[in-house]
Amino acid sequence: ADTLAAAAQQSGRYFGTAVAANKLGDGTYVNILNREFDMVTAENEMKMDALEPNQNQFSYGTADRIVNQAIGQGKRVRGHALAWHMQQPGWMQNMGGTQLRNAMLNHITQVATYYRGKIYAWDVVNEAFADGNSGGRRDSNLQRTGNDWIEAAFRAARSADPNAKLCYNDYNTDNWSHAKTQGVYNMVRDFKSRGVPIDCVGFQAHFNSGNPVPSNYHTTLQNFADLGVDVQITELDIEGSGSSQAQQFQGVTQACLAVARCTGITVWGIRDSDSWRASGTPLLFDGSGNKKQAYNSVLSALNSG
Ligand code: G3I
Repeated sequence: ADTLAAAAQQSGRYFGTAVAANKLGDGTYVNILNREFDMVTAENEMKMDALEPNQNQFSYGTADRIVNQAIGQGKRVRGHALAWHMQQPGWMQNMGGTQLRNAMLNHITQVATYYRGKIYAWDVVNEAFADGNSGGRRDSNLQRTGNDWIEAAFRAARSADPNAKLCYNDYNTDNWSHAKTQGVYNMVRDFKSRGVPIDCVGFQAHFNSGNPVPSNYHTTLQNFADLGVDVQITELDIEGSGSSQAQQFQGVTQACLAVARCTGITVWGIRDSDSWRASGTPLLFDGSGNKKQAYNSVLSALNSG
């Protein structure tokens, strides 16, 4: 196959990208989007601040441009993200206790109901675990509403859209030996044992020299899958260039292909110039939209998987 999506489809997987609504008028961007990808994540437009700028007043117009463009082109959509400690609307940032818990649950219910039937998988909760060696939860206003906030979020999402896959999504959970990875693993194991509705775990996979692709990546993905959830690489980008970068992209792709329940890979942007990183060249297309060496290595890995 000669596109990322077609190559991924050979093994029943998808290949996606983050999309920014304000780039949907850029012909080069849309051309690559429509040609190469079959899954779309809104880079910012489906976050809490974007969808509920005033309490209980929802604003879906910009997000819908992304969702409708994707569905119109036969692509699927990963929803990102129903509950997160960042990119909360101002009115929510200083809330606490029962008021915040109810506001979060209302947000999840309203948004997941609005998009019911259109979302392949929701990142129900994003980035709830702490960095460092504790393996515990991150402190946040949501965490301070009670340790059960994550399972409450998943139950609300399941009620609102029973057919969407429900994911927990985080970063720096790639290395099996890291405390954060173990913390998330223990939560998922606990959720599965108690019947909390969780279907998938997203690994953001933002890699750079300080956080390289770990040699045990396949082990991490397989161990999570063995808990009975799908795993997905949800925000992939890798700093660097040339053959070194290409080899790392190839390794990540092969790690997913080696895990039956790794259902797809999403890169966090199309061209290097579309990346959230202020500098660097972490994506598969250069600023002019040309395929990079990293693109070729991913495509050939998908074709031989
Ligand atoms: O839209 C406003 C614009 O009106 C304003 O003029 C401008 C001035 O700064 O800011 C614009 O908002 C920015 C927004 O991106 C849209 O471009 C925010 O400042 C900026 O903080 C925001 O950054 C996003 C970041 O999440 C916020 O946390 C990045 O685009 C987005 O790529 C990044 O994505 C996250 C995932 O959601 C979760 N995992 C990590 C990943 C990378 O940080």
